[in-house]
Amino acid sequence: MARNMLDCCDKIRDATTLIRLFYTLLLLLHRSHCKTLKSISPSLPLHDGDVLLSENEVFALGFFSPGNSTRRFIGTWYNKVSEQTVFWVANRDRSINDTSGVLSINSHGDLLLHCCNNGSSAIWATNISTTISDNATIAQLQDTGNFFLLQKLGNRVLWQSFDHLTDTLLPFMKLGLDRRTGMDRVLTSWRSKDDPGLGNFTFRIDLMGYPQLFLYKNGAPHWRGGPWTGLRWSGVPMVTNKYIFNISFVNDQEEVSLSYRMRNTSIISRLVTNTSGMIQRFIWHAGDGRWNELYAVPSEECEYYNGCGPNSNCNPYNMNQFRCTCLPGFEPRSPADWSLRDGSGGCIRSPGASTCRSGEGFVKVALVKVPDTSRAYVNMSLSLKKCEQECLKNCSCTAYTSVDERNGGIGCLAWYDDLLDIRTFSDIGQDLYIRVDAAVVARLMKKKGSSGKWLIVVTVSAGVILVLLIVLFITKKRRRRRGTLSAALFGDDESQNMQDLEYDSRTLDFPSFDLSTIATATNNFSFINKLGQGGFGSVYKGVLDNGRELAIKRLSRSSGQGIKEFKNEVTLIAKLQHRNLVKILGCCVQEDEKMLIYEYLPNKSLDLFLFDEEKRSLLDWRKRFEIAMGIARGILYLHQDSRLRIIHRDLKASNVLLDSSMNPKISDFGMARICGGDQIQGKTRRVVGTYGYMAPEYAMRGLFSIKSDVYSFGVILLEIISGKRNNGFSQENPSCSLVDYVWELWKEGLCLDIVDLLMGDMYSKREVMRCIQVGLLCVQEFAMDRPTMSAVVFMLGNDTRLPYPKQPAFAFNRIKGRANPPSSDERTNSVNNMSLTIVEAR
Ligand SMILES: *[C@@H]1O[C@H](CO)[C@@H](O)[C@H](O)[C@H]1NC(C)=O
Ligand SMILES: *[C@@H]1O[C@H](CO)[C@@H](O)[C@H](O)[C@H]1NC(C)=O
Ligand SMILES: *[C@@H]1O[C@H](CO)[C@@H](O)[C@H](O)[C@H]1NC(C)=O
Repeated sequence: MARNMLDCCDKIRDATTLIRLFYTLLLLLHRSHCKTLKSISPSLPLHDGDVLLSENEVFALGFFSPGNSTRRFIGTWYNKVSEQTVFWVANRDRSINDTSGVLSINSHGDLLLHCCNNGSSAIWATNISTTISDNATIAQLQDTGNFFLLQKLGNRVLWQSFDHLTDTLLPFMKLGLDRRTGMDRVLTSWRSKDDPGLGNFTFRIDLMGYPQLFLYKNGAPHWRGGPWTGLRWSGVPMVTNKYIFNISFVNDQEEVSLSYRMRNTSIISRLVTNTSGMIQRFIWHAGDGRWNELYAVPSEECEYYNGCGPNSNCNPYNMNQFRCTCLPGFEPRSPADWSLRDGSGGCIRSPGASTCRSGEGFVKVALVKVPDTSRAYVNMSLSLKKCEQECLKNCSCTAYTSVDERNGGIGCLAWYDDLLDIRTFSDIGQDLYIRVDAAVVARLMKKKGSSGKWLIVVTVSAGVILVLLIVLFITKKRRRRRGTLSAALFGDDESQNMQDLEYDSRTLDFPSFDLSTIATATNNFSFINKLGQGGFGSVYKGVLDNGRELAIKRLSRSSGQGIKEFKNEVTLIAKLQHRNLVKILGCCVQEDEKMLIYEYLPNKSLDLFLFDEEKRSLLDWRKRFEIAMGIARGILYLHQDSRLRIIHRDLKASNVLLDSSMNPKISDFGMARICGGDQIQGKTRRVVGTYGYMAPEYAMRGLFSIKSDVYSFGVILLEIISGKRNNGFSQENPSCSLVDYVWELWKEGLCLDIVDLLMGDMYSKREVMRCIQVGLLCVQEFAMDRPTMSAVVFMLGNDTRLPYPKQPAFAFNRIKGRANPPSSDERTNSVNNMSLTIVEAR
């Protein structure tokens, strides 16, 4: 009994202040007998202090006080998660201010919450419509977290908490409308952490037009997740149905709903709409005893609803340019605002443009979140081709695309007015076809052959064919296919996109190199060609017959994985294309040999520049800043925007290569996948990483996450600014790392002392200080405190107020101090341009 009481009273522990302690004491005195129930029945009510547990004790229900409040609410929480995490609250807006609350079943079978020892009206009730005779209902908590009221006869569920969500979505919960009952399940944020009352933010599926995910702030759109594309939500590319979650979207006569399951059911995860209007996804890390954030949206400026106004596209990757760009055929409504970087007015069709039966066509804008579909038209039975024809026929049709991304596109989604809230992703996204007039078509066609941006598909309406187009038709006759003229056309500003398109098509038939070709190119893997040796194998320089230079990574035989899996992984990894990632050109698998073929970068790696006085003097602040920004963008792409969520795990200056214009390119990403066996996030027995760059939780406990990469980035950033190595920073005192030193100076307000003297004073103090601060934010001790890479990119590029960093992890000391120092098996080589340091922990 005493033990039981301890267990149960433990739940109301959480007291941090004396007042809280005192209050708890009062509470204990008040209820000197805490009970643990398995069900609530007419004869067995739940009093404040009692706990209702689910069958396997996964979840608990009872009275609780949120945050610093002492008011009492009925809620459900995880029974096995040490930090009390409430995911459902019954009486959100009507709290009880003492511990007299009782949850009981009345004579009509209804579940009621009363307080204050009086028989007055209930504070909260399930209000079931039917009246059930005495003793015929009970309330229980399922192991899914669902609290429900059951009619014992026939086991009929009369009411369930899963129909009345609070701010959290758990596996098995459904967000969306039950068309049979009219029940719309939405998430609404708490008012504050002390008050679970209805807050400002609502997350729901909006059924207008074609269903979409929406986050509303006081009823106005705040962020849009977009429509379901069959694989994912159009606006949430980082969450796919692949690794961690099994997401399902149902849209039929019975319901429109979103739900998810964990692929590994022992992983505890939740999705919360928080009080400041962010949707956060957490995973419970039992080892740390804390919730780790996997992602949060909206996370960058382009995510806020319609920030660039109508008919405009938000592109966060527009380096040094305004993120808003008008869609083809449109121009800023107010050029003055536009030049002041205020895009909210959006764009209008260029004056004089005629898009009605006068030779108009469509321009493809690739890799986007499709426009708001609240007023879009859907027809699942049309193909993309038919969709185009239908759209062309109706002069008010402004754009079209496929509904579902699978099988090369299914169905037709068409817009008939302004296009709202479009954004570009760097890698994954849908293609949107936008109606443009003949003049735009002609202009884009003329530019073909320079370098650029849009891929255009022009369909010429049967009615009017402009003379210009006739001419073009004759000259480009060869490209003509059944009335559709396809050609790659180019704009000026973004050569990058076009490259991406080219490489995409190349990776479709991913080249497999012949072993004899590679052997010849490397002089039979001769010593002279060897660039270096790393944990996964050696790296050689190769020159093909046509003079093309390659870097060849010959994987050691032990890095075991079947040929098929190896090829699959390499093909996946090779699809990751970004200007800040080293390109994988192919692979070679033959006779036991597995090799990866990369582009060769003559400038080799960043560490060779950074830690060499002569070379370092070539790097002025602008260049260093660009390098840091490029690395950050590359990591962001790996973490968030690519099809695969890649955690690099071994980021360091020697894994950043430099091309001939000193653009940084990250190498060795995806090695954990290529070499077999990887988890997307979690714990590994094999620690692949380099001392000094490794986050403490990874180095010590093998816990890796995107935040361990953020840590490594922070170290690289500080190295770039100071021109000093984090490791072996101080010869006299080897346990003092660069990070420690910067932190000490920062606290004294002297952080500019670490700036590399070779830069003279040719830098903006403000900018450098901002970068140091970002660096310190990245190396904070707790992963949870560190920013995500999207936040890092934003903070580096924008002069905004930054949070004050907390104490960094003194990783070096700690690692040295642990039982099994990794240095015993450290092999490193920073001379080669593909180096890899590997530390094997047990
Ligand atoms: C599921 O996750 C648990 C805890 O993280 C882990 O121990 C287990 O190996 C995982 N199972 C599978 C099949 O991945
Ligand atoms: C909401 O989530 C964001 C993103 O993780 C976080 O920065 C913010 O602090 C959260 N707000 C609250 C009140 O917890
Ligand atoms: C064009 O489409 C709109 C929206 O579906 C419709 O209201 C209008 O009648 C159509 N016009 C013609 C000429 O078909």
